[in-house]
Amino acid sequence: MKILITGNMGYIGPVLSRHLRKVMPDAYVIGYDSAYFGHCLTGTSVAPELHLNEQIFGDVRDFPDRLLQGLDAVIELAAISNDPMGVKFEQVTGEINYGACASIAEKAVRAGVKRVVFASSCSMYGFAEGGPRKETDALNPLTAYARSKVATEQSLAKLDRDAAVLTSLRFSTACGMSDRLRLDLVLNDFVACAVATGEITVLSDGTPWRPLIEVRDMARAIEWALMRDPAQGGRYLAVNVGADHWNYQVKDLAEAVAQSVPGTKVNINLAAPPDKRSYRVDFSLYRRLAPDHQPQVTLQQAIDGLIDGLRRMNFRDAQFRSSQAMRLKVLEAHIAEQRLDEQLRWQAAVAPGGGAGAAKAGG
Ligand SMILES: NC(=O)c1ccc[n+]([C@@H]2O[C@H](COP(=O)([O-])OP(=O)(O)OC[C@H]3O[C@@H](n4cnc5c(N)ncnc54)[C@H](O)[C@@H]3O)[C@@H](O)[C@H]2O)c1
Repeated sequence: MKILITGNMGYIGPVLSRHLRKVMPDAYVIGYDSAYFGHCLTGTSVAPELHLNEQIFGDVRDFPDRLLQGLDAVIELAAISNDPMGVKFEQVTGEINYGACASIAEKAVRAGVKRVVFASSCSMYGFAEGGPRKETDALNPLTAYARSKVATEQSLAKLDRDAAVLTSLRFSTACGMSDRLRLDLVLNDFVACAVATGEITVLSDGTPWRPLIEVRDMARAIEWALMRDPAQGGRYLAVNVGADHWNYQVKDLAEAVAQSVPGTKVNINLAAPPDKRSYRVDFSLYRRLAPDHQPQVTLQQAIDGLIDGLRRMNFRDAQFRSSQAMRLKVLEAHIAEQRLDEQLRWQAAVAPGGGAGAAKAGG
């Protein structure tokens, strides 16, 4: 199987690359990424891209059609990947997360690629009262990030897909250790707070609901989408990916972390304005369609894995919320140093031609 992953050099990509190498040892896997966070390695002594056969540096907005020739599958991870970045780079978020992503999927299907897997997000449910959201419930995207995911899904759903199988995986919020750890994700942030300062500051009043998934279970879901039988769910499928018992209130996550790092204090901001993003999600469809790829990691294992990973890195940065562990801060630093322009394109001094270049790893 020949697979191309866009956006493989972020948080999920390294965990996915390792997983695919393990479960599909003979697959030829190509990475395609602009490498915005390529230098943000955390606690690894081996470049995660070594698990791939080939790494190409490039922008999905300039994706060369020739890369689609002979591919069996495209996995689309490349995105401006959270709400704060979507606020700061609203137009670019639309161009990358929707424009480029939808266009690559369309060209892939036209070129005869049989599988397209899109990393979508449960954040499209926005503020949702009245029980866990099902795939058929109304969407309520509140941010540029969430709107971009809805637009891409709509575009994928319309593709002429005679021979292709397309899957939008509406992922819960990720957590867990990675070779490019992000600390701008709720559970990761809490564990980093506890390890570095002995104190968790919850920025909201703690009541919002958030479904979570450990990053290795995301990789397992992508593996399923690469292989799934179209008789199960149809040639195009949008499915919530997570588990019912992983729907948590933010304050419960903070308490679970505090219990795992003895002596940790939890500060909840009772005066915070209500967080508009609160949703519980129904994962029964995923349970029915993917019985062999259900999430396996427990919340305790996810927390322990983060504590262990951070301690191995000697992590002590009490100011990490303004460090390069936050995706937005990295982009801002690239712009301040004139490495990237405001459109998030590399400047010639860093990457001639905007960064399109190829490196082969292994064979
Ligand atoms: N992390 C989560 O909680 C979560 C939850 C649901 C869905 N997702 C989706 O999963 C995907 C991966 O998330 P992540 O946490 O690894 O994010 P990340 O920000 O760590 O990684 C995104 C990757 O995309 C690349 N990228 C961004 N713009 C690009 C461009 N123009 N051209 C080429 N590459 C580009 C970046 O360089 C980066 O390596 C994203 O689509 C995200 O929306 C993530």
